[in-house]
Amino acid sequence: MITVTIDGVVQEAASGERLIDVINRAGVKIAQVCYHPQLGPIQTCDTCMVENNGQLVRACATTASAGMQISTRTEKAGAAQREAFDRILSNHVLYCTVCDNNNGNCAIHNTERLLGIEHQPIPYHSKPYEEDDTNPFYRYDPQQCILCGRCVEACQNVQVNETLSINWEDPHPRVMWDGGSTIGESSCVSCGHCVTVCPCNALMEKSMLGHAGFLTALPKTTLSGMIDVVKGVEPETGYGAILKLSEAESRMRELRIRRTKTVCTYCGVGCSFDVWTKDRHILKVEPLEGPTNGISTCIKGKFGWDFVNSPDRLTKPLIREGGKFRGASWDEALDLVARKFREIKAENGPDSLAFVSSSKCTNEESYLMQKLARAVIGTNNMDNCSRYCQAPATQGLFRTVGYGGDSGSIRDIENAGLVLIIGSNTAESHPVLATRVKQAHKLRGQKLIVADLREHEMAKRADLFLRPKPGTDIVWLSAVSRYLLDNGMADTTFLDQWVNGLEEYKRSLAPFTMEFGARTCGLSEDTLKKVAHMIAETSGVCILWAMGVTQHSMGSDTSTAISNLLLITGNYMKTGTGAYPLRGHNNVQGASDHGAMPNFLTGYQSVDDPEVRSRFEAGWNVQLPSTKGLDNHEMIEAIHEGKLKAMYLFGEEMSLVDSNANFVGDGLSKLDFFVVQDIFFSPSLEKEGTFTSTERRIQRLYQVFEPLEDSRPDWQIIQEIANRLGATWKYQHPSEIYREVASLTPLFAGVIYERLEGFKSLQWPVAADGTDQPLLYTKEFAFPDGKARLFPLSLTEPTDQPTAEFDLHLNNGRLLEHFHEGNMTYRNEGIREKTPDTFVEVSPELAEERGIQSGTWVQLTSRYGQVRVRALVTDRVQGKQLYMPMNSVESPVNRLTSSHTDSVTHTPAYKEASVHLRVLPEVGESPLPRINHRFGHATPQHGVEVERKWKRPDYRLPGNGLVQIQTN
Ligand code: SF4
Ligand code: SF4
Ligand code: SF4
Ligand code: FES
Repeated sequence: MITVTIDGVVQEAASGERLIDVINRAGVKIAQVCYHPQLGPIQTCDTCMVENNGQLVRACATTASAGMQISTRTEKAGAAQREAFDRILSNHVLYCTVCDNNNGNCAIHNTERLLGIEHQPIPYHSKPYEEDDTNPFYRYDPQQCILCGRCVEACQNVQVNETLSINWEDPHPRVMWDGGSTIGESSCVSCGHCVTVCPCNALMEKSMLGHAGFLTALPKTTLSGMIDVVKGVEPETGYGAILKLSEAESRMRELRIRRTKTVCTYCGVGCSFDVWTKDRHILKVEPLEGPTNGISTCIKGKFGWDFVNSPDRLTKPLIREGGKFRGASWDEALDLVARKFREIKAENGPDSLAFVSSSKCTNEESYLMQKLARAVIGTNNMDNCSRYCQAPATQGLFRTVGYGGDSGSIRDIENAGLVLIIGSNTAESHPVLATRVKQAHKLRGQKLIVADLREHEMAKRADLFLRPKPGTDIVWLSAVSRYLLDNGMADTTFLDQWVNGLEEYKRSLAPFTMEFGARTCGLSEDTLKKVAHMIAETSGVCILWAMGVTQHSMGSDTSTAISNLLLITGNYMKTGTGAYPLRGHNNVQGASDHGAMPNFLTGYQSVDDPEVRSRFEAGWNVQLPSTKGLDNHEMIEAIHEGKLKAMYLFGEEMSLVDSNANFVGDGLSKLDFFVVQDIFFSPSLEKEGTFTSTERRIQRLYQVFEPLEDSRPDWQIIQEIANRLGATWKYQHPSEIYREVASLTPLFAGVIYERLEGFKSLQWPVAADGTDQPLLYTKEFAFPDGKARLFPLSLTEPTDQPTAEFDLHLNNGRLLEHFHEGNMTYRNEGIREKTPDTFVEVSPELAEERGIQSGTWVQLTSRYGQVRVRALVTDRVQGKQLYMPMNSVESPVNRLTSSHTDSVTHTPAYKEASVHLRVLPEVGESPLPRINHRFGHATPQHGVEVERKWKRPDYRLPGNGLVQIQTN
């Protein structure tokens, strides 16, 4: 620590800290229009000028050093600040009272007030550009743009989509999309970073326009008239009076605009943000201080909430009678559920019922669901959709390091020297997490290796991209491991101290020579050696993997091979290292953590452990079943076999997301009684609770809206059913449910709602005193002797391999803008406009061979079913490999996938599918319209490039250019 004097008061600062942060911490108010702590110094506005030992400097770009004497209020500094702000006003009209951005947080308005500027010495000049509203979610108004460049910095260096720039050399600079495209036709992925950081109204969410203010819905001509009036009176009255009026209006807005913190309900990254609402209208999503995401979101988190007010939302229960649904009262529906469950249990025993919880819903709801199954019905037939994706990764970690969760935080991934991504389209499936890798790679020299079948965005950015043959990751990973061990490149000190099982593991690697690895995987030995050397030579390796690994018949083993590789290279136990299975749904981690599994109660406490059971039996005052129940996969088999009669499926589209969908659908139709509780009864915005993200981070969500009409939060529905079946649950609020979870679960002993207030979060395990563990294994591994275990593996061939008849390999996965089958995202007009339908990606080679073009209808037939879909020709895929996104209800890819599974976890081998392709005579439009971001052309550059502004002949540093321009 050092000391710095600010306006005569001594302040402590960290050596190297930005001066502006020290000034802000000291509570000294200075202008700082372009500065945003998460973007760093941009240096475009010059409003933060202060005197440093008599010289004018930009506070944002100056580093605090010992003994600095800083004056923020001298005449010289004040004149420079005002001059800089005058120039900003020459680009912006202050019509705050009729501006939708007048919500107390407009940087221009607030700076105007701070500096007390009454008149505008440099007149406003308009720019020769029209407003651009070609993006469905936001619009750009060049006339109000002050050219601060925050948006450019966010797009180039935070989101790293590299769409935005400013044409500094132009007589009339403005923000450019792809160097001059419309927004709609650009590479913009609608992540919203730029809109979030814009300090004024130049970039705004369309959902705000005409809705935020009391007068802003007026017709444009009326508004223009009012703006002219303001401009007209300003010379006489000065800005003071005008601002007073607008501030009164702004305070009135506070009475009707609510800002409620929530956690994103889409993917497992765990972004959190405030939702601004006016009645049931969502004004905007504002990410600011989420522990995972800060200012970041993707299109879904920022703009994908229309489904909450969708007209086809269910607001009351439906009962199917004679093949048709009819509306019913809650009492009738819940009584029916209880009666049928009771009858079926009495007739066929508790194990004739099964329960599936939701990875979209809260931890508290999963806890209640498994409590209902176990304590009320008496069965362990309980699962969640982590079976479909994450279970093999968890298994790989259980085998080797002990905990079934990411070994560190996203911060560790950012800090790694090398990130290896296997079978994950991270930029589309975990978009905000991907931004952190893209940033570290672009700005801080992080190395990136990607192994995938498709050349997606991360693959294009990678230093090394491998395309192993489908289903062979385990082979090249093991070959690399063997090469490292054979060539003295393993971390023997770490192995000696921390790892058991080396010799047996080494023996299991015998078949995995480089030659075998290269031949089996279709890669060169040099490539594999390069991977090995890059890993061995880098300090800090993180491996990220997802469904491209887990959804294979050897998913658990490949996950284990990943962890083995990390162990032999000492890449655990320190920051910037570790294993990161990327959890898919917002709460897929939490659903398993909270006992929605056939073999575990909460916190992975085994159902066959008598000590565990007796603790829960005492807590719940019941007898509990002691043998493992059926998992999702086994449930479908059991229905076909006539053993399972009733199912309660909660927040899960099982008939589309389970593999071999025809088989699953047939099974479900054989049930005697089937209860489906869908997310459209109660979206996350209408309830309280917690979610657990991929980095084991538990976060609270607050209720944004009252439940729509007659709908109810899921936890209340589950409680009502339990009580009709004889339970006496009296939970009034999810916090009471969590108190019970914590009392029964050592892993969450210290999780209480007070510790999760607002944006606070905890990463499990959480000790009773509230201490959490962002990085696991800092002291030891989670096994009794504290040591990790190398787990020997053998070779497994993928199932459903191509044959002469089914000659093409079909891969599948997510798209950035849709979530899974699109139940939520298809209800968003903007997303539909950009990405209206599903498609099958066909390589240019195959397209030429078969006479296919983008838009050609094709029929895909597998051994299990068929779908009809339009082709999209793209070099993201290669040769005889196809790719289908999951987002379709009409043509779900799972009509084509098999019932083969990972032998350990029963996770379906979705990624092992072979199909026959028949070209149909119809040729339609390309399934992706021109306005899809994939057709844009990004313009990568190093942020705002303010130096180009400083080179303009009309630029001079405010304050008469008394000092040299500083460079960043
Ligand atoms: S990708 Fe689009 S929405 Fe995201 S920061 Fe860039 S321009 Fe803005
Ligand atoms: S559009 Fe960009 S450059 Fe213009 S004011 Fe907003 S953030 Fe600044
Ligand atoms: S990255 Fe995931 S959690 Fe974050 S906003 Fe997007 S969908 Fe939501
Ligand atoms: S805040 Fe320092 S130059 Fe803008």
